[in-house]
Amino acid sequence: VHMKPVRKVVFPVNGLGTRFLPATKAMPKEMLPVVDKPLIQYALEEAAAAGVTEMIFVTGRHKRAIEDHFDRYPELERELEMKGKEELLEIVRGIVPPGVRCIYIRQPVPLGLGHAVLCAQPVVEDSPFAVILADDLIDGKVSTTLQLIRAREEQGGGSVVAVQDVAPEETKKYGIVSVDDQTQNTSRLRGIVEKPDPSVAPSRLAVIGRYVFEPEIFDHLAKIAPGVGGEIQLTDGIASMLNESPAFAHRFEGTRFDCGSKQGFLDATIHFARKRGFRIG
Ligand code: UTP
Repeated sequence: VHMKPVRKVVFPVNGLGTRFLPATKAMPKEMLPVVDKPLIQYALEEAAAAGVTEMIFVTGRHKRAIEDHFDRYPELERELEMKGKEELLEIVRGIVPPGVRCIYIRQPVPLGLGHAVLCAQPVVEDSPFAVILADDLIDGKVSTTLQLIRAREEQGGGSVVAVQDVAPEETKKYGIVSVDDQTQNTSRLRGIVEKPDPSVAPSRLAVIGRYVFEPEIFDHLAKIAPGVGGEIQLTDGIASMLNESPAFAHRFEGTRFDCGSKQGFLDATIHFARKRGFRIG
């Protein structure tokens, strides 16, 4: 059977980032650097490593820095060239890998993550696509997005959400899934609930900010009502899709840092700084 390959990714970057105030008052949280690279660039590199070529950013007010970051900067390049700073020149020129296109679309009002994904529909059209939440930073041998794409191929198509085992008391912080067989790393997804209390959580498998969707998700995002916090929730869109279109949960390999929280961001900074040979403490 013919299966359309995943060549597009959506980066929803229109959140308010309130957990990181005051740093995020005038700057998108996706531009926070871990060592020297903004979170959104790690995300783009992960997508590129998965063979994705169309990078679709769902942006909004106060997000200009992201567009500027992925644009060429001829004056800077000329300056580095003139001064013979080859290494820096290469870093600046290599921010967007060859063959990759960046596309920006606005979410006029931040109505929730599900709504942000829906805003990308005119560009995604009838293709399968990945979604990456840049504040979940993952370090691993294989691009997490590539792991999800491979899981989708092994299943012969369908949507895939990335999951990770969390401690029982942590279920309150995540979307939690129920699957056919928790012992498998890829299993058919049967249910998903947002932030359940440990006493009612269907498992300890938590959804992390990586997804691959068949375009059918848009039909569901377009028809669901606002959920928790009055937002159009991606979780609700996935739950609505489950009965009609197959979806899977995939336990990925890698270390994940919740860079939307200060603690997670610090842990990531220390992890990547050590890896790069910087002294800590
Ligand atoms: P979060 O729940 O992390 O919210 O959004 P946030 O605003 O970014 O951060 P806090 O909680 O206030 O600190 C999850 C993802 O969905 C995007 C965010 O950019 C983030 O990647 N998002 C959320 C949108 O793009 N649009 C929205 O309307 C809501």
